[in-house]
Order: sequence, then C-alpha cells, then structure tokens
Amino acid sequence: MQFLNIALSKGRLAEQAIELIEASGYNCQVVRDPSRKLILEDHEAGLRFIMAKPADIPTYVDYGAADIGIVGKDTLLEEKRLLYEVLNLGFGYCRLCVCGPESLAGKLDQIPNKRVATKYPRVAREYFESKKQQSVEIIRLNGSVELAPLVGLAEVIVDIVESGRTLRENGLVVLETIADVSARMVVNRVSMKMKAERIQPFIEAVGRQLEARKDQASE
Ligand code: PRP
Repeated sequence: MQFLNIALSKGRLAEQAIELIEASGYNCQVVRDPSRKLILEDHEAGLRFIMAKPADIPTYVDYGAADIGIVGKDTLLEEKRLLYEVLNLGFGYCRLCVCGPESLAGKLDQIPNKRVATKYPRVAREYFESKKQQSVEIIRLNGSVELAPLVGLAEVIVDIVESGRTLRENGLVVLETIADVSARMVVNRVSMKMKAERIQPFIEAVGRQLEARKDQASE
C-alpha cells in the first residue's frame, strides 16, 4: 500500500494530534512507543509519521516530503506556504499577540520606531508595517521571548499567549491581539491530486470525528 506521509510536530500539538487520528480510525501505536526515531511507519494503517520541529512542518509539506502536516495557524501565518488548509482541528487554541509592560497599555501607537522581539518576524512586520503603517525594528529571537522587554532588548514582543501564565509571571500584559490560533491540517497541493484516493478518506474520517466531537459538546 502507498504510504500516507504525515508530518507531526514534536511539541505540544503532537499528543492531541495522535489522539485525534487514532479516534478517526487509524492505528497510531507506532508513534506512542517511546523512541528517538524520526520516521515511524505503520504498514497496516499505511501511515508514515515524520517527526519534525513545528516551524519546519510547512516546509516538509510544501516540498512534498510530507503529504499532510499538522501545525499551528501561527506557524502557517509566519511561513506563508502555498498549502491546502483543510481542517481546523479544534485544539491548540491560543492567540498571537503584541505584549509588553502594562505601562504601554493604550500607548503602543505613540512609540515611534518600536523594537519588537519575536519568533514570528513576518507576522510582526506585516502587522505593524502593512496593517498599522508603523515602522518597527524586528528583533528575531528563538524562544523565551518574554525576556526581551525585561532586559531592555525591545519595547514589546509578538508571541503566542495560551494560558497567559508566562506573561503574568514576568509582569507583562497583552497589548493587542493579532490573530486567533489553533491546530490545522494542511495538505501538499500535488499530493492532494496524486494521492487523492488515500488523502480524501483520511481527511473525511478526521472531519467526521471533529463533527462528532462538536455534536457531543453541544449535547
Ligand atoms: C510559548 C510562547 C510563550 C508561552 C505562552 O513558548 O512563546 O512563551 O508558550 O504560553 P502560556 O501563555 O501558557 O504561558 P514555548 O513554551 O513554546 O517555549 P519558547 O518560549 O522557548 O518558544
């Protein structure tokens, strides 16, 4: 059987993604077993899981190295690849926000040439330059972005806020919300046609499972 190649992130989304795929009728035991292998195959289910860093998933899917990817909308907005975004998976909810010290609340627009520290340089630039017509200096960081305003590296940050705990514990607040985020299923444009007989039933099965969950939640 032709494998369906699914890129999964090793981070916070993986567990819920695996649970959803399994509930949709596909055996995912192979990804549950502790292992450092980066490619995990289940011959019977015809699934090959590619374990990648979240930020790289759109790249694997864009190049066709994976047919399907499960990834946060934040990463999709940052990567801007031409992929089919087929399902909102209903987990991984958070917000992409501009955050900073409370003293800047309501005053953000008054600071000229702000320095903005972020893991999302494209999102931050588009928000400030295209949407708000403000020139900013983007400082790219790779994590623990909340540090930047605390040590004077930047006035504000653009980052994801989930529970808000990291902000709270570091004396920062949400100043503006850029976008709501959740996990999405994306598909390579060529695979969608060339592997339609494998991909369509997969999308439909996961879609049915999501609908069933919605019905259950509204009962
Ligand atoms: C993310 C994000 C925030 C934090 C938000 O970081 O960049 O720092 O989670 O979550 P909270 O609102 O629930 O506190 P992550 O844990 O991915 O680590 P990183 O900062 O090293 O990227």
